[in-house]
Amino acid sequence: MAAAMKPSCKAVIFLLIGWLPGLLLATELRVEASRYRLEALLTHPALREVEVADDAVLHRPMRYRALPLDALLPGLRPGERVQFIADDGFVAEIEAATLMGADGRWRAWLAVEDPTRPWPRAPGKPDLGPFYLVWTDPGDAGPEQWPYRIVAIRRREPQPAPAALSPDPALPAHAAAWRGFAVFQRNCLACHTLNGAGAAQLGPDLNVPHNPTEYLPEALLRAYLRDPQSLHRWPQARMRGFSPQQLSDADLDALLAYLRHMAGRKRWTEDARP
Ligand code: HEC
Repeated sequence: MAAAMKPSCKAVIFLLIGWLPGLLLATELRVEASRYRLEALLTHPALREVEVADDAVLHRPMRYRALPLDALLPGLRPGERVQFIADDGFVAEIEAATLMGADGRWRAWLAVEDPTRPWPRAPGKPDLGPFYLVWTDPGDAGPEQWPYRIVAIRRREPQPAPAALSPDPALPAHAAAWRGFAVFQRNCLACHTLNGAGAAQLGPDLNVPHNPTEYLPEALLRAYLRDPQSLHRWPQARMRGFSPQQLSDADLDALLAYLRHMAGRKRWTEDARP
């Protein structure tokens, strides 16, 4: 009969088996079709130290070893968009023009964690590393634009939105739903799908099975978009309100016209996900 392993020995083996796949997965970054190992990125010639005055997740000044995004996405140019995909399915899609700033200097960087100098932990958050998007010049970049635990980065050519998101092509060009469609793509698609179309998986689909214009009286829906806590109050809500500076009353009217219109165009399109 094989000698029984000592419990402490078993525990060590369990830990190793449990950790290894996690470690291997976490230390690789997919960028388009390439895979980069953490060690390779830590010795990348473009790596430099950047100062972050107020880290939006850690809420403190930080110094990171980081790469400019064109080190990984050569020739990235305004007009393109970059998707940062986190290990929990969160997708931050950010315009290259925002990452670079008007003067062509990088405002955002891919911070790379050296396992021998681990980053601090944020209360209530998992480890942020080893790949985290940080901003030396955040401007109005909100916390959703600081994706952490990034596992993949993809560049997106500007492309027409999936047909499942589109208003009825027969609608006249001046119809409010067209303007609302643009408002929706600019402000909501980062977190919500509609008819299953879109890359985000953070917020609920806004048409299937129910469109908010079907179950919320208009006044409540308007109030919700300005201040989500005015409808449901809870500290873990991920959606922030849109102030009139971010979303004018006219844009909000158009957005509601779009949502109402789409309630009559329900379909479910898994394959519309990029
Ligand atoms: C940063 C991500 C994010 C953005 C941007 C965002 N939402 Fe949300 N939204 C969420 C999440 C997550 C929820 C689920 C509730 C929560 O956690 O706040 C939600 C919930 C909702 C709900 C459901 C309310 C209910 O209880 O039925 C509606 C309606 C909604 N969002 C509409 C919008 C519209 C319209 C926009 C664009 C103007 C938008 N959201 C932008 C993340 C977002």
